[in-house]
Amino acid sequence: MLATRVRPAKIGRQCHPTCTRGIQSKTRRTSPTINRTSPSPRQAAPKSELQKFQERMRAESAAASPRKSSHGIPPRALTFLGITALVISTYTSYLYASYKREVSKAQSLDVPTDVSDRYNSTARTFDAEVELSERVMRMGSKRADLVRMARGDVLEVSCGTGRNLEYYELGERRGVGPEGKSTVRGCRSLTMIDLSPQMVSIAEDKFRRLRPEFTRVLFRAQDAATVTVDKPTFPSGAESTSTRQSALGSPTRQDGYYDTIVQTMGLCSMPDPAATLRHLGSITEPERGRILLLEHGRSHYDWLNRILDNLAPSHADRHGCWWNRDIGAIVKESGLEVVEEKRWHFGTTWKYVLRPRQHSAREAKKE
Ligand SMILES: C[S@@+](CC[C@H](N)C(=O)[O-])C[C@H]1O[C@@H](n2cnc3c(N)ncnc32)[C@H](O)[C@@H]1O
Repeated sequence: MLATRVRPAKIGRQCHPTCTRGIQSKTRRTSPTINRTSPSPRQAAPKSELQKFQERMRAESAAASPRKSSHGIPPRALTFLGITALVISTYTSYLYASYKREVSKAQSLDVPTDVSDRYNSTARTFDAEVELSERVMRMGSKRADLVRMARGDVLEVSCGTGRNLEYYELGERRGVGPEGKSTVRGCRSLTMIDLSPQMVSIAEDKFRRLRPEFTRVLFRAQDAATVTVDKPTFPSGAESTSTRQSALGSPTRQDGYYDTIVQTMGLCSMPDPAATLRHLGSITEPERGRILLLEHGRSHYDWLNRILDNLAPSHADRHGCWWNRDIGAIVKESGLEVVEEKRWHFGTTWKYVLRPRQHSAREAKKE
């Protein structure tokens, strides 16, 4: 009897799936007559309205909620996670096995220190091979920032296929320096050299297409370790705004030097990079001259250096470049003075602005 006194409106408010047990126990507590007249719940006579309502609610809530496993993660999500974990672990194992295979192959190779001849055969495909990685590493803007500093008579060594050509400011113009003083910007002349005739020929073709108007340019197949100062000759009258020649027509001291020497990704390919840098220092204008480098080599991190070291022989054999060189140590050994240094990409990309040591510059000045 008492059970029928429970009002449906009140039940509706309380019948959230999580509190049905509460209702049951309350119902039991408030229905002594039911307990007395029904010794066993199994023998319960026809279901009351409340019980029917509870059952309906339970069935509805079970149908509405997605199926869940005992730990609360839906089976679909579990399946997806399982498949993802399987794919990742299979791919990682595959990569590790390939790496191990490459390392043992690399260690068995007998590669000479001088691998610079590789570029003669890879010249035609060089640009296509490096394009993607350079884009990903945003090397274009790093090349542009470096090369825009070039001024005066400029020499680029190890110029390769001329990947820096589009960034040079060609032609001198007056400008204002960082301290508000008037300065001369841009390149008066450009000399591009590379050991590989195939590489330098691609650079020359590129330049003719890109900058046909600029004529103070020279392309030569030459070794950076022994290059001498040999600037492009100018058409008569072209030097009228410059003070490069003395009144007697004899060369001025600057003519024995370049104002700027640029090299990008070249130290990795030379047999004696420190000696080459030292030589370049000797042909850089002693006071205001600069050597601009953008190189790649060892990282800040040991784990990455181990990978570079392990794979270096096969990379050098295939691509003509030792990618595990310590660029900082090479610069130090060269004896040049560091004006600016920066590193990116876990420390594997190195930028340097160098100049001849000032005591050697003073001695050069006395001569
Ligand atoms: C990795 S490529 C870099 C080319 C280009 N500088 C660039 O940034 O894309 C290295 C280049 O250095 C050149 N090279 C290697 N040893 C050289 C040397 N002793 N003198 C001049 N060039 C050299 C190679 O022929 C090749 O073109």
